[in-house]
Amino acid sequence: MGTDLVQITTAEKVQPEEVRAGARTASTLGNGKTFYIETFGCAMNVHDSEKVAGTLAARGYRPVDNHDEADLILYNTCSIREKAAEKVFSRLGMLQKAYRNNPKIIGVLGCVAQQEGEGIFERAPQVRLVCGSASYTKLPSLLDELEAGKRRITGLGLETEECFETELTRRDNPFRAYLTIIEGCDQRCAFCVVPMTRGPERSRPSDRILAECRRLVDDGYTEIQLLGQIVNAWKDSSPARLSFAELLARVAEIAGVRRVRFATSHPRYFTSDIVQAIDSHPALCDQVHLPVQSGSTRILARMLRGYTREEYLEKIDCIRHARRAISISTDIIVGFCGETPEDFEQTMTLLDVVEYDQVFSFKYSRRPRTAAGWGDTVPEEEKAARLAALQDRQRQIQLRRNQALVGQKLEVLVESYQPRLGQAVGRTSSNRIINFPGAPAWVGRYMDVRVTGAGPHSLVGVEDGREGGSGDGTN
Ligand code: 5AD
Repeated sequence: MGTDLVQITTAEKVQPEEVRAGARTASTLGNGKTFYIETFGCAMNVHDSEKVAGTLAARGYRPVDNHDEADLILYNTCSIREKAAEKVFSRLGMLQKAYRNNPKIIGVLGCVAQQEGEGIFERAPQVRLVCGSASYTKLPSLLDELEAGKRRITGLGLETEECFETELTRRDNPFRAYLTIIEGCDQRCAFCVVPMTRGPERSRPSDRILAECRRLVDDGYTEIQLLGQIVNAWKDSSPARLSFAELLARVAEIAGVRRVRFATSHPRYFTSDIVQAIDSHPALCDQVHLPVQSGSTRILARMLRGYTREEYLEKIDCIRHARRAISISTDIIVGFCGETPEDFEQTMTLLDVVEYDQVFSFKYSRRPRTAAGWGDTVPEEEKAARLAALQDRQRQIQLRRNQALVGQKLEVLVESYQPRLGQAVGRTSSNRIINFPGAPAWVGRYMDVRVTGAGPHSLVGVEDGREGGSGDGTN
C-alpha cells in the first residue's frame, strides 16, 4: 500500500467475461498482434497497466507472458527513487541487446517516461513510444500512429483535466479490484517527483465511481481498493457532491461489497468523518495507511508536508479512539536533507508512540526538479544506518503487536494456496497475512481463522469456520 514495492509482470489472461463486458470487439487495427507489459512501482501503476492492457485488448492485441512472443513490449515505470528509474534503463539495455536482429516495438510508459521524455530515445534508441500517465487518454491515437508505421511517438502533455477511463480494463487480481478515483497530485512535497510525473489532481465523479463498483460486484469482486496518489483529496464533481467519507460509505453499502480499502491518504486531509465511516460500515477495512515521512516537525516543515508532529498525532489519536481496532501503517523517509541525529530520534520515538502495524521505509533519494532548494546532505552510510535502526525498532513493535493477536479469531479472505506447504494464504481486514493449513479450493473464500502464532510480518493460524463463521468449521 502506498509504496513502490510491487513489481508485476503481466500478460496473464484477459478474462473472457471482461472482454465481453468491454463491448468493443477486436478492431482490425493491431489485430493478431501480441503485447507484453511489465509494471514497476505503486498500485496506481499496477492499475494503469490493467487499463492499458484493456485498451490494447479492445484493439485486438493479445497478451503474452514473455518478451520473446511479444510484438509490442511496454514498461510501465516508476521514478519515485533513483534506483527504480535506473532499473528501467538497464532493462531497456537488455532488450536492446536481445532483440538487435529482431527489433520489437518498445514503449516506455509512466513516471520515467514523463520525467525523461524524448531523452529516452537517445538512451534507448529502440524505444518507439514514450507516454506519461497524464496522456493515457491519448493512447488509442498514439497507437494508431505507431501501427501506421511512425517511428517515434510521444505523449508527454501534463495539462489535462481528464481521467483515464477505459471501456475495458483487464484486472489481474481475481479478488481485489483496483479503482482509481483521483489522478495526479497538487501537493509540492519537497522530496516527491509525483506532481511532475502525474500532472495535476483530477477526480472522477461519484456516479461513475459507484457505477463501476456495481459492475465490479456483478463481475464477482468482493474487495474494492480505491486508489489515488492522495486518495482523500478526492472531490466530487457530480451534483451529489459527496465528501470522501460519504463516498467510502456509499461504496461499502453496495450489496456484495465485503471489503473496501483506500490508499494513499495524506494526513492533511485526513478527517474524523473518515474514522466515523469506518466505525459504522463493517465493509470498510480496519486499516488506514497514513504516511508521516518524518517524526520531526522541523523536517516536516522542510518537506512541505503541511502538518506538525503534534497535528499528525492528533489524527492518530482520532483513529485509535474508533470503536473498533484500526490498523495503521505509514511511509517514512530517512536522511532527508538536513536531518540531524536529533531529528531522526524524533522519528524513532514516533514509532514507539504510534505503534504502527506496518512501516514502509526508504532512504532519501534526491529526484530531479524536487527538493525546493534543498540538497542531499546526509551521507549514504548514515542513511543506511538510520534505515537499519528504524527497521529494527519497527520489527520489534510489529512482533509484539502481532503476538497480541494470538488466540483471536479473524475473518480472512484466502488469496492463494501454497501446494508445497499445504498452506492457504489469507489476508485479514487489517491487511495482515496469515498462513494456515488449507486446500486449493479455499482460494477466494472468506473464512474465520484462529491465530496460533505470530512473527513480525505475518501470522499463522487454523481454520475456525467458513464464510464468516457460518460454514463447517473444524474447531
Ligand atoms: N526518496 C525516498 N523516498 C521517497 N518517497 C517518495 N519520494 C521519495 C524520495 N525522493 C517515499 C515516500 C512515499 C513513498 C511512496 O515513497 O515515503 O510516501
